[in-house]
Amino acid sequence: MSVNVIVVGSRDQRLEELLRASGPIAGLSWAQDVNALVGAHVAQPNVLVIDLRRTAQVPAALATLKRQHPSTNVLLVASSLDPALILQGMRAGVNEVVAEPLVQTEIDAAMMRLLGHHSHTPAGPVFAFVGAKGGVGATTTAVNVSTALAKLSPARAILIDLHLAYGDAAVFLGADARFSVLDALENLHRLDAAFLKSLVVATTSGLDLLASSERPAARSIDVRHVSSIVELAASQYGFTILDVPRGDLHVLDSLDLVTNLVVVANQELATVRNAGRMAASLRSRYPKAKVTTVINRTDRRAEIGHRDIERAVGSTITHQFPSDYRRALGAMHKGRPLALDNHNDLSASFTALARELAGVSHDSEASSGRRGFLLGRR
Ligand SMILES: Nc1ncnc2c1ncn2[C@@H]1O[C@H](COP(=O)(O)OP(=O)(O)OP(=O)(O)O)[C@@H](O)[C@H]1O
Ligand SMILES: [Mg+2]
Repeated sequence: MSVNVIVVGSRDQRLEELLRASGPIAGLSWAQDVNALVGAHVAQPNVLVIDLRRTAQVPAALATLKRQHPSTNVLLVASSLDPALILQGMRAGVNEVVAEPLVQTEIDAAMMRLLGHHSHTPAGPVFAFVGAKGGVGATTTAVNVSTALAKLSPARAILIDLHLAYGDAAVFLGADARFSVLDALENLHRLDAAFLKSLVVATTSGLDLLASSERPAARSIDVRHVSSIVELAASQYGFTILDVPRGDLHVLDSLDLVTNLVVVANQELATVRNAGRMAASLRSRYPKAKVTTVINRTDRRAEIGHRDIERAVGSTITHQFPSDYRRALGAMHKGRPLALDNHNDLSASFTALARELAGVSHDSEASSGRRGFLLGRR
C-alpha cells in the first residue's frame, strides 16, 4: 500500500524524514491549517499529521473534519504527553499521539496502527522466482517470463533483481542501470513512487528493471525494507516479478506480498532434493502464496523423470522449458531476452508460464487482441 500524508504545521525536516522512513509514502505535503481539508468533497490523505509542538492547541476544525471524513487517520505530534491535550485530541477524533523526543520506532508503530485500520490499495500480483540450486536458470526464467508479461499485456511490469549486489538480470536485458535496489534500501526515507521511478531503467523489452548493485551493501539491511520496495512496486505496476537469491535468508523472509512463488529446478538429484525441501518450507512460510516448481533444461532421457520430481516437490509439474544452450547463451550475449522471439520452443514455454501466472488463456488473447485482456490498474 502506498500512503499519502499531509502534515499540518510549520515545515520540519526531521519530522518529514521520520514519516518517510516509516514505510512506502507515495506523497507527503504540508498544509498551513486543518481548514484546507474541511469539506465533504475535499480529498483526504491516508494520514493527517497535526504538529502541535508550537501551538499546544487542537485545531477547532478537526472535529468537523472527522465528522465529515471519519476514516481519515489523524496522528498528533505533541511536545509532551499532556493529559489535557490528549483529552482534547480524543474528543476531536485523533487516532494516535506521539510526543517529543520523536523516535523512529514510535512513529513506525503509530503509522502501522493507523494504516492497519485502513483498507489497502489494490496491488498487482507479485511473482517470485528462486532456483533450487545455483545456475539452474532462475534468472533466465524470471527475465523471460517478465518479458513475456510485458509483451502480452498493456499493464506495466517491473522486474526487481533482489540479489542486492552482483545479480545479473541487467545483463540478460541488455540494460545499463545507473541505480539499483541498494540505492532504494539506502534511501528509504525518500522511497515513494517518484523515487522508485527514478531508480528503474526502462529496457528495450518494454519491461522496467530495478537492477542489482555493482557494489556490496555498506551495512546490513533490514528485511522490512526489502518488503517496502516490493510493496511500493506492486502498488505502481500491473505485474511485479522478483529474481530472488536462493541463499539470502533475509530476502527469502520478506516475501509476504508474493502471490506466486516459482521454484526453478532441473533433473539432477541434488537439485530435486533441494526443490522438495524448499517448496515445503516456502509453503509453510507463505501459506497465502501459490508455490509451484518448474523444470528447466528438461531432458526426456534423464534418469530422474517428472514423476520423481512431482513426488519430491509434492505438486504436479505443469511447466518445463527445453534445453537450448545456444539460444539461451546467444540471447544473454545480445542482451535480448529470447521470449521476444516467436517460433522457438523455449520462448513458447516461457510465454506459457507467463500466461498462466497472469491468468490469461491462449484463446482470450487470440479472440480479444492485445487490448481486450489484462488491462492493468493504471
Ligand atoms: N533452458 C536452457 N537451456 C540452455 N541453457 C540455459 C537454459 N536456461 C538457462 N540456461 C543457461 O544457464 C546458465 C545459468 O542460467 P541463469 O543465470 O539463469 O541461472 P541462475 O539459476 O539464475 O544462476 P545463479 O544461481 O547464478 O543466479 C546461463 O548461461 C543460461 O544461459
Ligand atoms: Mg540468477
